[in-house]
Amino acid sequence: MSILKIARMGHPILRGVAAAIADPTAPEIRQLVDDMIETCLDVGGAGLAAPQVHVPLRLVLFRVPSERLSGREHDTAMELSVLINPVITPLSDERELGWEGCLSVPGLRGAVPRWTRIRYTGLDHDGAPIDRIAEGFHARVVQHECDHLDGVLYPQRMEDLSLLGFVEEIARYPIPLRRESSPGATP
Ligand code: NI
Repeated sequence: MSILKIARMGHPILRGVAAAIADPTAPEIRQLVDDMIETCLDVGGAGLAAPQVHVPLRLVLFRVPSERLSGREHDTAMELSVLINPVITPLSDERELGWEGCLSVPGLRGAVPRWTRIRYTGLDHDGAPIDRIAEGFHARVVQHECDHLDGVLYPQRMEDLSLLGFVEEIARYPIPLRRESSPGATP
């Protein structure tokens, strides 16, 4: 196992569209998963996508830390989970703002609108199917990581760049976030 170098915003690998993985059980994919897990744990990240370690393949991993839970049914703490060739389907029109950071955008935090409730499917590292419903932070981290597979970083999802700032300043001067609703939905 080894700790991998993480690409930072501006590197072209982060703007590309990653390719599907034909065989999740291939030795080189297992090695990549092991190295990504070690890298993610080493830096204390909530998630990591293969393009962030310079590999343009559709593979992400993420965890749901207990301190980030929203209290909703499908938002429960989760150890590191591997997701290959993911597909995300929003389950409602509702979005909400929440704070995100990214290992490829070090030192910053931004408030990003994301679907509050999604279904996601894909394969695990043994090639077994995954089919889950996620809400709250769980839904957010999956959307964030899967965006990396299409060359999208969280600032590109932001609609109000006044809500982008340095970690220390946002901790010192907290900004309350409102919940967004689609037109016609109950606010
Ligand atoms: Ni990221």
